[in-house]
Amino acid sequence: MNKIIEMDLSEISNLIQSGKLKVCVIGIGRIGLPTALSFANSGLHTVGVDINPTLVSNINSGIFPLKDEPGYDTIFENVLKEKKFSATTKIDDIVPSSDIILLSLPTPMDQNNIPIYSAIKSVGKQLHDLLTFGSIVIVESTVEPGFVEDELISIIQGSDGRLEAGKNFGIGVCPETANPGQILNDFERLPRLVGATDDKTAKIITKIYKHVFTVDLIPMPNCKTANAVKLTTNVFRDINIAFVNELAILFEKIGIDVMTVLEAAKTKYNFQVHYPGAGVGGPCLPVNSYQMLNLAKKIDSNLLSIVKAGRIVNESMPQHVINLLNEGFSESGKNIVNSEILILGVSYKPDVKDIQLTPAEPIIEKLKMLKCKVKIYDPYFKSTDIFGIKTENNLVDALSNTDAVIIVTAHKEFHDIDPAFLKTRMKTPILVDSRGIVNQHTAKIAGLIFRGLGRGKI
Ligand SMILES: NC(=O)c1ccc[n+]([C@@H]2O[C@H](COP(=O)([O-])OP(=O)(O)OC[C@H]3O[C@@H](n4cnc5c(N)ncnc54)[C@H](O)[C@@H]3O)[C@@H](O)[C@H]2O)c1
Repeated sequence: MNKIIEMDLSEISNLIQSGKLKVCVIGIGRIGLPTALSFANSGLHTVGVDINPTLVSNINSGIFPLKDEPGYDTIFENVLKEKKFSATTKIDDIVPSSDIILLSLPTPMDQNNIPIYSAIKSVGKQLHDLLTFGSIVIVESTVEPGFVEDELISIIQGSDGRLEAGKNFGIGVCPETANPGQILNDFERLPRLVGATDDKTAKIITKIYKHVFTVDLIPMPNCKTANAVKLTTNVFRDINIAFVNELAILFEKIGIDVMTVLEAAKTKYNFQVHYPGAGVGGPCLPVNSYQMLNLAKKIDSNLLSIVKAGRIVNESMPQHVINLLNEGFSESGKNIVNSEILILGVSYKPDVKDIQLTPAEPIIEKLKMLKCKVKIYDPYFKSTDIFGIKTENNLVDALSNTDAVIIVTAHKEFHDIDPAFLKTRMKTPILVDSRGIVNQHTAKIAGLIFRGLGRGKI
């Protein structure tokens, strides 16, 4: 067993080059699996650990679960064939012989928007029993600044005095910043942040990550600063999206097209464009804002009121989409009750197969309360069950008998949607575009009753 925290950087280099560095990634979901595959693809022997036995057995049988991550299907085949990567549910078999242990465990929130760190804490307890002297734990999950220093380290150390961070094991963070749907691309170009409890551990992590990812590795003074950077970038986006969402609602009422405004505004060098939409979902942005608020609350609950306000705006957007739909029904003279509504796109963002915290869900709930018959067409979710609805298999069939279409997700399949085609297929030609992808003049000429978020009435 290598005691890597006692090695100098040239010994670490030799270990990497000889392929003898052993890597374990705990949590091989959306982020952990691509991470593990990148480590294996760089020549390092890597094992993925997960509590999901179906996932583990599929992976070991060569079934790649992330079909919407370009590039990783080939890497997956190669590393499996070369026996550089395998998966297991047995954490006890792997951790004691691993030099680095990456944690890519889920950090969601509960119904009251309180962050849940139970997966990391429970693995932390297991690490207390399993960790071998000299190994390094690296937290890739998104956690609140201070969580590693104030909670995780003492969970791993336990109370028996066997383990001591910085003395006989190392701990650091390298927060994950990749975007689902383009993880390989992001891993090859986005700089990574490295923070650790001690300088030696930070340098070793940097050396190993540099071998795997060949991107810039930015040294952080400690774990909490690295985690603060990660949260700051996502909370920044959440707040800015809330700003353009409110602008969209204002401009709609006074006949200004928000998309025209944003396209022109982004010509100014210091304006960073964000786009309005039906809501902000996914496992990151909403959760990260609440993680930041949870942190602020410990200091002063009045802090970060702008983040709270942003959440209120973004969480109100599904209702605004329903308001636009109601306007469309008023114009058509038809009653919304018992109408058939087709949702285009249920993913929380374009071109990914992921519905975590998607705004489509509250929109669908509200439509059901209005006694509408809701249909879903999403190229990533064909003929499957989503939110209790059997999804449609093709768009043409889905459109028949439809009274209104709501574009919720701007999947690329919807970008060229032809308003004239919608008009000929639908029973009542109401179109609500919450993503600014349909040209409102073309929609009008085609004879659609059109409402677009931030587009005004024409
Ligand atoms: N998905 C993203 O867009 C994204 C981007 C950047 C960062 N992150 C962060 O990365 C982390 C992981 O997110 P994800 O999207 O990959 O989550 P995920 O749910 O896709 O994957 C997590 C995996 O961990 C497994 N798991 C849960 N508890 C476990 C346990 N006790 N032991 C072993 N395995 C366990 C689950 O079965 C699952 O396969 C989170 O902190 C998230 O905030 C996610």
